[in-house]
Amino acid sequence: MTSAEIIEEIGRLKEQRNAVILGHFYQRPEVQDISDYVGDSYGLSKQAAATTAEVIVFCGVHFMAESAYILSPDKTVLLPEIEAGCPMADMADEQDLIALKAKHPKAAVVSYVNTSAAVKAESDICCTSANVLQVIKSLPQKEIIFTPDRNMGRYIAEQTDKKIILWEGYCYTHDEMRAEDFARAQQQHPDALTVVHPECPPEILALADHITGTSGMMKLAASEPHTTFIIGTECGMGYALQKTAPDKKFVFPSDDMVCATMKLTSLDSVLNSLRNLEHRITVPEGIREKAYRALNRMLQVT
Ligand code: 13P
Ligand code: SF4
Repeated sequence: MTSAEIIEEIGRLKEQRNAVILGHFYQRPEVQDISDYVGDSYGLSKQAAATTAEVIVFCGVHFMAESAYILSPDKTVLLPEIEAGCPMADMADEQDLIALKAKHPKAAVVSYVNTSAAVKAESDICCTSANVLQVIKSLPQKEIIFTPDRNMGRYIAEQTDKKIILWEGYCYTHDEMRAEDFARAQQQHPDALTVVHPECPPEILALADHITGTSGMMKLAASEPHTTFIIGTECGMGYALQKTAPDKKFVFPSDDMVCATMKLTSLDSVLNSLRNLEHRITVPEGIREKAYRALNRMLQVT
């Protein structure tokens, strides 16, 4: 089948199944183009909670599809590529979290949405890159266990007077970014605005004009007068940014800023997903109910 035929068949099956396609900003351009909604983790969670479709095809990684099911358990939630996981989410385990909670009984647990349902179930509230500071400020506790991203944890520790107990997780795509690549890009584009994701390590955050998640980057691209932006996040973001601000230039300082699992999903896998209703993502009800409380609390606070 040609790409045009695949896209047509995806459209036909989507209608037949009463499906909605949700895609993250890091997806391949052709997958973003066939998505009904493209967004960040927060926006995608809100869409999953609100949709009236019967089937959600989630073009992203496993924890995102799991969150969609936690919020909308009456829907069929599909992940086109079953191997599309988030290595950072795999760095937090619920047994280790239970042990850490026992050591810090007064602390609230804030889990980044990049976690498994089982870790969310052991958390008081979730957060995303779009609302992390708002979530932390909403809590009465002075001590916070923050899972799993140590870089984001260190960043919020600087923005609040609460004690942040860090977890040793990280996103390899962001953590391996090098300060010298950013410094070089800044020398080459002295008038550019540097905008980086809070998953980046401290030496990259120190070089930034703005630290924000992917939806914040979209807003800045549209609102700031700068014509050039140096971007510190996964390279798929370039396509979404260019679409929203076609006359501006977005510079990615290195070719290595790629999340391999975000790139697994293709038009073929979306077609297969809709044809065969694969791969269904579910969560055992006891865990789902507890994880729902943490996710829904985030949606209420923000
Ligand atoms: P955003 O919610 O900012 O899109 O981040 C998701 C993610 O996986 C970042 O690596
Ligand atoms: Fe996980 Fe990083 Fe990929 Fe985001 S970019 S899905 S945090 S590995």
